Amino acid sequence: MAAAVSIQGLTKTYLDVWSKTEIRAVDNLTLEVEEGEIFGFLGRNGAGKTTTIKMLLGLIFPTLGTATVLGKPIGDTDAKAQVSYLPEEAYFYEGMTGWDTMDFYARLFRIPEPKRSERIRQCLKDVFLDESAWRRPIRGYSKGMRQRIGIAQALINDPKLLFLDEPTSGLDPIAHAELREIIVNVGRQGKTVFLSSHQLPDVELTCSRVAIIHRGKLLTSGKTQELTAGDKVEITFSGGDAALAEKVKAVAGTCEAKNGTCRVPAVDPQKVNDIVDLIRGAKASVVSVVPHRRTLEEVFVDTVMKAGAN
Ligand SMILES: Nc1ncnc2c1ncn2[C@@H]1O[C@H](COP(=O)(O)OP(=O)(O)O)[C@@H](O)[C@H]1O
Ligand SMILES: [Mg+2]
Repeated sequence: MAAAVSIQGLTKTYLDVWSKTEIRAVDNLTLEVEEGEIFGFLGRNGAGKTTTIKMLLGLIFPTLGTATVLGKPIGDTDAKAQVSYLPEEAYFYEGMTGWDTMDFYARLFRIPEPKRSERIRQCLKDVFLDESAWRRPIRGYSKGMRQRIGIAQALINDPKLLFLDEPTSGLDPIAHAELREIIVNVGRQGKTVFLSSHQLPDVELTCSRVAIIHRGKLLTSGKTQELTAGDKVEITFSGGDAALAEKVKAVAGTCEAKNGTCRVPAVDPQKVNDIVDLIRGAKASVVSVVPHRRTLEEVFVDTVMKAGAN
């Protein structure tokens, strides 16, 4: 499959005018995003996410390195027409209605009528913006509604690739869930989504692959499923006597009994059969055998801490 974004050794240094020192905001970053995937670009505040996105959009120039976007070098006009961007701080004309805002962007892309109205209608529906809000000024929109208009605006040119810079920051839990659904739907349309975020539960639920950057450097990247896969299994069983608990403990290391149920929290996968045999042999019942998963948050904290958190 072709790469939607391919980054080789991208580096950006800023000169801090006060201290006259160089800030390496992005440091020798190499990364590929496949076409059609929802890709999570993770990092703490100041990690270099926005700087990377701005370089890929051609808004600022890399100090070193190269990248292609939809197979074309940064800044290519054909590629730009198929890319869109929701900035971290999206500004709107507060007095304009949602519909007029969309109309404004549609005109920028020179979409003629009647296609323009059709497209606006479709985009507003894609982001589940309530029809009663379409003709109301943005001034009265909630943060969640603003993010919807922001994504609708990013969809107006039917892009192949969307850059969403921290779209779920500052939203309430319901708005988070709704925005996740919108992003997943965008992915289902076959579009590639480059999602920068530090809202790890959102990323875990939406992104098939992620990269973690820290101080401008790539720490790790991979499939979300693989990064969060644990290497241990948890077994719970009910019944059995103290002797069984002791036998299980001898094999697994721990066995915690509580209210007639025993939990064996971290079993080596090779020992699972032996423990299940012990339980069944003692006429006790296996309640569950569950592979451990780490949350993306645990993976993120571990990875960043190992690199030195500060
Ligand atoms: N225009 C700029 N001038 C100087 N430093 C900047 C500028 N933009 C960003 N930085 C610095 O670059 C680093 C990365 O910033 P940014 O890309 O905005 O991170 P993120 O989006 O991950 O929060 C930070 O240390 C930030 O202070
Ligand atoms: Mg940012």
